[in-house]
Amino acid sequence: MRHFTSITQFGDLSKALEAARYVKQNPFADQELGRNRTLLMIFFNSSLRTRLSTQKAAMNLGMNVIVLDVNQGAWKLETERGVIMDGDKPEHLLEAIPVMGCYCDIIGVRAFANLTDRDGDYAEIILNQFIRYSGKPVFSMEAATRHPLQTFADLITIEEFKKKDRLKVVLTWAPHPKALPQAVPNSFAEGMNWAGYDFVITHPEGYELDPAFVGKAHVEYDQEKAFEGADFIYAKNWSAYEGENYGKVLSTDRNWTVDARKMALTDNAFFMHCLPVRRNMIVADEVIESPQSIVIPEAANRVVSAQAVLKEILKEL
Ligand code: CP
Repeated sequence: MRHFTSITQFGDLSKALEAARYVKQNPFADQELGRNRTLLMIFFNSSLRTRLSTQKAAMNLGMNVIVLDVNQGAWKLETERGVIMDGDKPEHLLEAIPVMGCYCDIIGVRAFANLTDRDGDYAEIILNQFIRYSGKPVFSMEAATRHPLQTFADLITIEEFKKKDRLKVVLTWAPHPKALPQAVPNSFAEGMNWAGYDFVITHPEGYELDPAFVGKAHVEYDQEKAFEGADFIYAKNWSAYEGENYGKVLSTDRNWTVDARKMALTDNAFFMHCLPVRRNMIVADEVIESPQSIVIPEAANRVVSAQAVLKEILKEL
């Protein structure tokens, strides 16, 4: 694997899960693979889990790690080509990227959607500039349209906790006070379609996701109907995707909050969320604190997904 920007680049589900199982059981078996190799992690946006889990994964593989928060201590970067740079940004990404490429062997990039220009966001301009100009393998640590390391960890977690072969997985929109990107739900939908689960997406009207990610999912506007018989409930907020509403908050209706009454409609489903999560907006305390909540093992599997991906990239260096 050269670059990793989508879970589908891992080949097939069984190969991905086998790779994950191996690194989970043998976390320090491949230290020689990463020796004297340097990972550079570039953050245009905040992070807790991605930063720590990816760094831990790289250390497990014997790598050196450099972390750069672009917005803290680095020169402010211009990202638009053709701009007359007479403002407050003294460096252009088009010089910064190849320079960063000189200092490492692999680059991880976190660059969220700006939620004002849908075409620009969905063209993944920043991530693709790193792929084009760094000269190094690049992987996404959540880009504008996908969060593949999260999706991979979600898949690993579902496979670890599932109690039957034929699964019903439900992605539910839930309220949030601020506009959030569609990267996590897009990526999760992509992963569920890729895995071939019985997959339902439920959200209020107006929150339809890009059909390219929805794929074969059944879209159900009645959240309670969607929950019936579910084995996994995956909650997430996202802002609107369609038309002039792109990036907007259309609803903060707390009737969509995941609570114990709705979880009782499921087949004793497990509750999942990528975190960070706003309690009693997205999910009630009683659900996230219940034995069916698997948000912590889900977060723990972020080390596994990152390590499996880094290992595949290191093997090709
Ligand atoms: N789930 C996730 O990516 O968490 P962070 O934003 O804290 O990295």
